[in-house]
Amino acid sequence: MLTRDQQLTLALAHARARLPQDEGIAKDDPLWAPFSNRLQQHLPSLLGELAPLYGARPDFLDVLTTILRTAWQGWRARPADLRALDARREAKPDWMLSEQMLGAVCYADLHCGNLQGVLKEIPYLQELGVTYLHIMPPFLCPEAHNDGGYAVSSYRDVNPALGSMADLRALAAALRQAGISLVLDFVFNHTSDEHAWARAAAAGEPGYEDFYLIFPDRTQPDAYERHVREIFPDEHPGAFSQLSDGRWVWTTFHSYQWDLNYANPAVFNAMAAEMLAIANVGTEVLRMDAVAFIWKQLGTNCENLPQAHQLIRAFNALTRIAAPGLMFKSEAIVHPDEVIQYISPQECQLSYNPLQMALLWNSLATTQVNLLHLALAERARLPAHTAWVNYIRGHDDIGWTFADEDATRLAIKGFDHRKFLNQFYVNRFPGSFARGVPFQDNPATGDCRISGTCASLCGLEQGDVHAVARILLLHGVMLSTPGVPLLYLGDEVGTLNHHGYLDDPAKAGDSRWVHRPPRDVARYAQRNNPATEAGRVFAGLRRLVAARKKSPEMGGPEITPFGTDNPHVLGFLRGLYPHQLLVLANFSDQPQHLPNSLFNAADPLTHEQVSGERLDLRQGLTLPAYGQVWLHFDCA
Ligand code: GLC
Ligand code: GLC
Repeated sequence: MLTRDQQLTLALAHARARLPQDEGIAKDDPLWAPFSNRLQQHLPSLLGELAPLYGARPDFLDVLTTILRTAWQGWRARPADLRALDARREAKPDWMLSEQMLGAVCYADLHCGNLQGVLKEIPYLQELGVTYLHIMPPFLCPEAHNDGGYAVSSYRDVNPALGSMADLRALAAALRQAGISLVLDFVFNHTSDEHAWARAAAAGEPGYEDFYLIFPDRTQPDAYERHVREIFPDEHPGAFSQLSDGRWVWTTFHSYQWDLNYANPAVFNAMAAEMLAIANVGTEVLRMDAVAFIWKQLGTNCENLPQAHQLIRAFNALTRIAAPGLMFKSEAIVHPDEVIQYISPQECQLSYNPLQMALLWNSLATTQVNLLHLALAERARLPAHTAWVNYIRGHDDIGWTFADEDATRLAIKGFDHRKFLNQFYVNRFPGSFARGVPFQDNPATGDCRISGTCASLCGLEQGDVHAVARILLLHGVMLSTPGVPLLYLGDEVGTLNHHGYLDDPAKAGDSRWVHRPPRDVARYAQRNNPATEAGRVFAGLRRLVAARKKSPEMGGPEITPFGTDNPHVLGFLRGLYPHQLLVLANFSDQPQHLPNSLFNAADPLTHEQVSGERLDLRQGLTLPAYGQVWLHFDCA
């Protein structure tokens, strides 16, 4: 075996010589010099990640050259305006941490009809202050069963029901013009069973046999299944599905979503090409779907393996070479110790914050902020140049992914507590205000997750008096913790659960559709009427967004937990001493008084950032039920 340095020297020399030759690149091609510079800079990391995966193969150098050709082809095809954007993004790696950032996410069809409908939605998004828009996978997918687009049949074609590739490019450009970054998924753990590769693999076409994990009988599947988790047990038990010819294929999610086999470098190369094509449409952030599952190894639970990280970092190194402005967002809805492993400038610069999401709902159910406080104190810090994406609801279920170790420290028993949370949110607990629906209830393991819209889970569906305040409380924390706040469109007008999915046989088995409603036109029409629920939610949210955007303290990564000595009131400081904002949030349905001693360190004559009101803290402060304030906390 060659040493790493020898490999590197060889690879670089090889690439330098072969690439221009193979690809017919002229010496004075203006695209070659910047590419070659970035190759020089990032090849060591690319090689460092690929070598442990594929380095033992005798054809490793060829594998590498093929991947570099893919990178060159991606770069050559990259439109000039995106290359200019690359330079701007590289010069400002922390743009995601700006207080001006506001994310939003929607399904093009459900929310706007199609991609052209999203285009028409831009003025509204601007009115809201949105700077980041995640559109659910718009690519070709099976007509009926497609997991909301997460079963991709071609990454180069748009689902005709939504429009065309030209529409998608036009939308990306229009969004960029409006100051909104387009976020698309990279669904790279699996393709649909209708993808050309899946068809070729099933037919045993040469070159495609090893694209997926297909086994002749149950021997291997049984061996793997001794250790893996069931993700969608309602649809099929275990991790495999049987083909019509009797063979078994690995399907972590639905039986029509076939897991790709990244042990085969041809899969990595093929997906790298798809990734760069998606980037070149004008995508600024790639949502890395289902990252935890991409590498399998017998005898392990096949989640979060070191090779999964190497693969993502290899994709990252490739984008640094071929689409350097592109960022990755990790979708790892797993134990917090594992979530954090995906976050670094070399891997995913952004990550969902599933812990904060789950603990916000936990605090609403229990009225206690202890777990959330602990998470902010010990689990919020990230490496430089990375950021959380904070959210309340998304298109998926709520999983209770807090760490049992953290819970134990607070004398909370993880298993029992999850059971309570599930009962609370499906309204099987006395006094619950929530109207959620169970998702993947698994009596065998006791596992269960929760579906439901933000409004329905907050009590709006059952007409609870505090519902609007709860919705705003959760969004207030989302908008004031470090990172990109991500709004699930529809929530800003208090959209309720939608049970219509039960009439569609392709959706009826998946309760997540209860919180994927078609646009509630009536609620949107009421949004500027303060006498309506929709109007109260909308106005409250607008005020919070405006407060965020005028507060430089809300930018940047700094957060300091602030103990309130009150079990119901969460506190944290944003910005830099001595001029900070103190966020206080009351998670109980009773007013809470905070004594003046709490505020000793700061000037007691202050004002509140959301309302603009002047406040005198000399008598302490009383927060109403579910009340929140962003106080100027000046210590000098
Ligand atoms: C991700 C998506 C989810 C989908 C799954 C399989 O978790 O968010 O909606 O079902 O991946 O692609
Ligand atoms: C995610 C999670 C799983 C979640 C599913 C989609 O990747 O790991 O818990 O339920 O995909 O809903």
